[in-house]
Amino acid sequence: MNIILIGPPGAGKGTQAKRMIDRLGVPQISTGDMFRAAVKEGTPMGLKAKEYMDKGALVPDEVVIGVVKERFGKPDCAKGFILDGFPRTLEQAKALDGLLKGMGKSLDHVVVIEVPDDYLVKRLTGRRTCRGCNYMHHVEFDPPKKEGVCDKCGGELYQRDDDQEATIRSRLKTYHDQTSPLIDYYSKQGVVRTIDGTKSMEQVQEAIQKAIGA
Ligand code: AP5
Ligand code: MG
Repeated sequence: MNIILIGPPGAGKGTQAKRMIDRLGVPQISTGDMFRAAVKEGTPMGLKAKEYMDKGALVPDEVVIGVVKERFGKPDCAKGFILDGFPRTLEQAKALDGLLKGMGKSLDHVVVIEVPDDYLVKRLTGRRTCRGCNYMHHVEFDPPKKEGVCDKCGGELYQRDDDQEATIRSRLKTYHDQTSPLIDYYSKQGVVRTIDGTKSMEQVQEAIQKAIGA
Protein backbone atom coordinates (compact mmCIF):
# COMPACT_ATOMS: atom_id res chain seq x y z
CA MET A 1 0.00 0.00 0.00
CA ASN A 2 1.59 3.29 -1.14
CA ILE A 3 -0.21 6.29 0.29
CA ILE A 4 0.32 10.05 0.41
CA LEU A 5 -1.32 12.20 3.10
CA ILE A 6 -1.87 15.80 2.02
CA GLY A 7 -3.32 18.54 4.20
CA PRO A 8 -2.51 21.89 5.73
CA PRO A 9 -0.40 22.15 8.88
CA GLY A 10 -2.43 20.75 11.77
CA ALA A 11 -4.86 18.83 9.53
CA GLY A 12 -3.96 15.61 11.36
CA LYS A 13 -1.56 13.96 8.89
CA GLY A 14 0.78 12.76 11.63
CA THR A 15 -2.08 11.78 13.95
CA GLN A 16 -3.71 9.64 11.27
CA ALA A 17 -0.46 8.18 9.92
CA LYS A 18 0.39 6.88 13.38
CA ARG A 19 -3.04 5.20 13.55
CA MET A 20 -2.50 3.57 10.15
CA ILE A 21 1.01 2.14 10.36
CA ASP A 22 0.22 -0.91 12.49
CA ARG A 23 -2.94 -1.75 10.62
CA LEU A 24 -1.31 -1.48 7.21
CA GLY A 25 2.11 -2.81 8.22
CA VAL A 26 3.95 -0.03 6.40
CA PRO A 27 6.12 2.81 7.79
CA GLN A 28 5.19 6.48 8.13
CA ILE A 29 7.67 8.66 6.26
CA SER A 30 7.40 12.18 7.68
CA THR A 31 9.90 14.57 6.11
CA GLY A 32 9.11 17.07 8.91
CA ASP A 33 10.05 14.48 11.58
CA MET A 34 13.22 13.65 9.63
CA PHE A 35 14.23 17.31 9.46
CA ARG A 36 13.50 17.82 13.17
CA ALA A 37 15.72 14.79 13.96
CA ALA A 38 18.50 16.29 11.81
CA VAL A 39 18.10 19.67 13.59
CA LYS A 40 18.39 17.91 16.96
CA GLU A 41 21.54 16.09 15.84
CA GLY A 42 22.96 19.38 14.50
CA THR A 43 23.90 17.89 11.11
CA PRO A 44 24.71 20.35 8.26
CA MET A 45 21.46 19.33 6.54
CA GLY A 46 19.53 19.94 9.77
CA LEU A 47 21.05 23.40 10.23
CA LYS A 48 20.13 24.30 6.66
CA ALA A 49 16.56 22.94 7.02
CA LYS A 50 16.04 24.87 10.27
CA GLU A 51 16.50 28.22 8.49
CA TYR A 52 13.46 27.44 6.33
CA MET A 53 11.36 25.69 8.99
CA ASP A 54 11.66 28.62 11.42
CA LYS A 55 10.22 30.92 8.74
CA GLY A 56 7.37 28.56 7.84
CA ALA A 57 8.91 28.17 4.38
CA LEU A 58 9.72 24.98 2.47
CA VAL A 59 13.12 23.33 2.57
CA PRO A 60 14.58 23.38 -1.00
CA ASP A 61 13.29 20.60 -3.24
CA GLU A 62 16.70 19.03 -3.97
CA VAL A 63 17.37 18.55 -0.23
CA VAL A 64 13.94 17.00 0.44
CA ILE A 65 14.03 14.73 -2.60
CA GLY A 66 17.52 13.48 -1.58
CA VAL A 67 16.26 12.64 1.93
CA VAL A 68 13.22 10.73 0.63
CA LYS A 69 15.26 8.84 -1.97
CA GLU A 70 17.63 7.64 0.75
CA ARG A 71 14.71 6.65 3.00
CA PHE A 72 13.10 4.58 0.24
CA GLY A 73 16.29 2.50 0.18
CA LYS A 74 15.58 1.13 3.68
CA PRO A 75 14.13 -2.42 3.80
CA ASP A 76 10.96 -1.44 5.71
CA CYS A 77 9.69 0.41 2.61
CA ALA A 78 9.52 -2.79 0.56
CA LYS A 79 5.84 -3.38 1.43
CA GLY A 80 4.85 0.26 0.97
CA PHE A 81 4.69 3.51 2.90
CA ILE A 82 2.59 6.37 4.16
CA LEU A 83 4.13 9.65 3.02
CA ASP A 84 3.30 12.39 5.53
CA GLY A 85 4.25 15.88 4.36
CA PHE A 86 5.91 14.83 1.10
CA PRO A 87 5.51 15.81 -1.71
CA ARG A 88 4.75 19.47 -1.08
CA THR A 89 5.57 21.02 -4.47
CA LEU A 90 4.97 20.01 -8.07
CA GLU A 91 8.72 19.51 -8.44
CA GLN A 92 8.68 17.02 -5.55
CA ALA A 93 5.61 15.25 -6.97
CA LYS A 94 7.35 14.79 -10.32
CA ALA A 95 10.49 13.54 -8.60
CA LEU A 96 8.34 11.08 -6.62
CA ASP A 97 6.78 9.80 -9.86
CA GLY A 98 10.30 9.04 -11.09
CA LEU A 99 11.37 7.36 -7.84
CA LEU A 100 8.25 5.16 -7.80
CA LYS A 101 8.74 4.19 -11.41
CA GLY A 102 12.34 3.24 -10.66
CA MET A 103 11.10 0.96 -7.84
CA GLY A 104 8.33 -0.55 -9.96
CA LYS A 105 5.69 0.92 -7.63
CA SER A 106 2.68 3.17 -8.07
CA LEU A 107 0.45 5.25 -5.83
CA ASP A 108 -2.67 3.62 -4.42
CA HIS A 109 -4.25 6.60 -2.64
CA VAL A 110 -3.65 10.29 -2.10
CA VAL A 111 -5.66 11.11 1.02
CA VAL A 112 -6.45 14.82 1.24
CA ILE A 113 -7.44 15.88 4.77
CA GLU A 114 -9.43 19.10 4.47
CA VAL A 115 -9.60 21.49 7.43
CA PRO A 116 -10.37 25.23 7.20
CA ASP A 117 -7.62 27.59 8.42
CA ASP A 118 -9.73 28.78 11.38
CA TYR A 119 -9.43 25.38 13.11
CA LEU A 120 -5.73 25.00 12.54
CA VAL A 121 -4.25 27.73 14.70
CA LYS A 122 -5.98 26.27 17.78
CA ARG A 123 -4.84 22.76 16.91
CA LEU A 124 -1.23 23.82 16.44
CA THR A 125 -0.84 26.19 19.38
CA GLY A 126 -2.28 23.45 21.64
CA ARG A 127 -0.17 20.63 20.21
CA ARG A 128 2.42 18.98 22.47
CA THR A 129 4.81 16.63 20.67
CA CYS A 130 6.77 13.80 22.30
CA ARG A 131 10.57 14.05 22.13
CA GLY A 132 10.78 10.27 22.37
CA CYS A 133 8.25 8.84 19.89
CA ASN A 134 6.92 11.97 18.07
CA TYR A 135 3.35 11.23 19.22
CA MET A 136 1.18 14.36 19.16
CA HIS A 137 -0.98 15.18 22.16
CA HIS A 138 -3.23 18.25 22.35
CA VAL A 139 -3.87 20.19 25.54
CA GLU A 140 -7.63 20.14 24.89
CA PHE A 141 -8.40 17.52 22.21
CA ASP A 142 -6.02 14.75 23.38
CA PRO A 143 -4.54 15.72 26.73
CA PRO A 144 -1.89 13.45 28.30
CA LYS A 145 -2.81 11.72 31.57
CA LYS A 146 0.12 13.46 33.25
CA GLU A 147 1.00 16.98 32.15
CA GLY A 148 4.19 17.16 30.08
CA VAL A 149 4.51 13.36 29.77
CA CYS A 150 3.64 11.28 26.69
CA ASP A 151 0.98 8.59 27.32
CA LYS A 152 2.52 6.31 24.70
CA CYS A 153 6.17 6.15 25.80
CA GLY A 154 6.61 8.32 28.90
CA GLY A 155 8.78 10.77 26.91
CA GLU A 156 8.89 14.52 27.50
CA LEU A 157 6.30 16.61 25.66
CA TYR A 158 7.46 19.86 24.02
CA GLN A 159 6.05 22.63 21.86
CA ARG A 160 7.50 22.74 18.33
CA ASP A 161 9.46 25.92 17.47
CA ASP A 162 7.23 26.48 14.42
CA ASP A 163 3.98 26.20 16.43
CA GLN A 164 3.94 29.94 17.21
CA GLU A 165 1.01 31.84 15.73
CA ALA A 166 3.07 34.02 13.32
CA THR A 167 4.92 30.99 11.93
CA ILE A 168 1.67 29.02 11.68
CA ARG A 169 0.22 31.80 9.46
CA SER A 170 3.29 31.59 7.15
CA ARG A 171 3.01 27.80 7.00
CA LEU A 172 -0.67 28.07 6.03
CA LYS A 173 0.17 30.52 3.26
CA THR A 174 2.96 28.24 2.03
CA TYR A 175 0.49 25.33 1.95
CA HIS A 176 -2.13 27.23 -0.07
CA ASP A 177 0.43 28.67 -2.50
CA GLN A 178 2.72 25.71 -3.10
CA THR A 179 1.15 22.46 -1.90
CA SER A 180 -2.60 22.68 -2.60
CA PRO A 181 -1.99 22.62 -6.42
CA LEU A 182 -0.93 18.99 -5.93
CA ILE A 183 -4.57 18.04 -5.31
CA ASP A 184 -5.33 18.88 -8.92
CA TYR A 185 -2.17 17.09 -10.09
CA TYR A 186 -3.21 13.86 -8.34
CA SER A 187 -6.92 14.23 -9.19
CA LYS A 188 -5.89 13.82 -12.81
CA GLN A 189 -4.35 10.46 -11.83
CA GLY A 190 -7.66 9.39 -10.22
CA VAL A 191 -6.15 8.62 -6.81
CA VAL A 192 -7.49 11.43 -4.61
CA ARG A 193 -9.72 10.56 -1.61
CA THR A 194 -11.00 13.66 0.15
CA ILE A 195 -11.68 13.48 3.90
CA ASP A 196 -13.42 15.97 6.19
CA GLY A 197 -10.69 16.58 8.79
CA THR A 198 -12.86 18.72 11.09
CA LYS A 199 -14.44 15.64 12.67
CA SER A 200 -13.04 13.81 15.71
CA MET A 201 -9.79 11.85 15.36
CA GLU A 202 -11.75 8.57 15.45
CA GLN A 203 -14.25 9.73 12.81
CA VAL A 204 -11.43 10.89 10.54
CA GLN A 205 -9.71 7.54 11.02
CA GLU A 206 -12.90 5.67 10.07
CA ALA A 207 -13.42 7.85 7.01
CA ILE A 208 -9.87 7.18 5.83
CA GLN A 209 -10.26 3.41 6.38
CA LYS A 210 -13.44 3.47 4.33
CA ALA A 211 -11.88 5.57 1.56
CA ILE A 212 -8.83 3.34 1.13
CA GLY A 213 -10.67 0.08 1.81
CA ALA A 214 -8.24 -0.99 4.56
P1 AP5 B 1 5.72 19.02 9.02
O1 AP5 B 1 6.29 18.46 10.24
O2 AP5 B 1 5.27 18.12 7.94
O3 AP5 B 1 4.55 20.03 9.44
P2 AP5 B 1 3.16 20.44 8.74
O4 AP5 B 1 2.87 19.98 7.38
O5 AP5 B 1 3.10 21.90 8.96
O6 AP5 B 1 2.11 19.63 9.50
P3 AP5 B 1 2.02 19.39 11.02
O7 AP5 B 1 2.95 18.30 11.43
O8 AP5 B 1 2.14 20.70 11.75
O9 AP5 B 1 0.48 18.94 11.14
P4 AP5 B 1 -0.19 17.51 10.99
O10 AP5 B 1 -1.11 17.56 9.80
O11 AP5 B 1 0.79 16.40 11.05
O12 AP5 B 1 -1.09 17.55 12.30
P5 AP5 B 1 -1.03 16.68 13.63
O13 AP5 B 1 -1.44 15.28 13.33
O14 AP5 B 1 0.25 16.88 14.37
O15 AP5 B 1 6.76 20.06 8.37
C1 AP5 B 1 7.42 21.02 9.16
C2 AP5 B 1 8.35 21.85 8.30
O16 AP5 B 1 9.38 21.02 7.73
C3 AP5 B 1 7.69 22.55 7.09
O17 AP5 B 1 7.10 23.79 7.46
C4 AP5 B 1 8.89 22.71 6.15
O18 AP5 B 1 9.71 23.80 6.54
C5 AP5 B 1 9.68 21.42 6.40
N1 AP5 B 1 9.26 20.34 5.45
C6 AP5 B 1 8.71 19.15 5.79
N2 AP5 B 1 8.43 18.43 4.69
C7 AP5 B 1 8.83 19.18 3.63
C8 AP5 B 1 8.78 19.00 2.22
N3 AP5 B 1 8.27 17.88 1.66
N4 AP5 B 1 9.26 19.99 1.43
C9 AP5 B 1 9.79 21.11 1.95
N5 AP5 B 1 9.86 21.36 3.27
C10 AP5 B 1 9.37 20.40 4.11
O19 AP5 B 1 -2.21 17.38 14.47
C11 AP5 B 1 -2.05 18.70 14.97
C12 AP5 B 1 -2.68 18.80 16.37
O20 AP5 B 1 -4.10 18.67 16.25
C13 AP5 B 1 -2.22 17.72 17.36
O21 AP5 B 1 -2.06 18.27 18.63
C14 AP5 B 1 -3.37 16.68 17.34
O22 AP5 B 1 -3.50 16.06 18.61
C15 AP5 B 1 -4.58 17.55 17.01
N6 AP5 B 1 -5.54 16.87 16.14
C16 AP5 B 1 -5.28 16.05 15.08
N7 AP5 B 1 -6.43 15.62 14.53
C17 AP5 B 1 -7.44 16.19 15.23
C18 AP5 B 1 -8.87 16.13 15.15
N8 AP5 B 1 -9.49 15.39 14.21
N9 AP5 B 1 -9.59 16.86 16.05
C19 AP5 B 1 -8.97 17.60 17.00
N10 AP5 B 1 -7.63 17.70 17.14
C20 AP5 B 1 -6.88 16.99 16.27
MG1 MG C 1 2.90 16.30 11.23
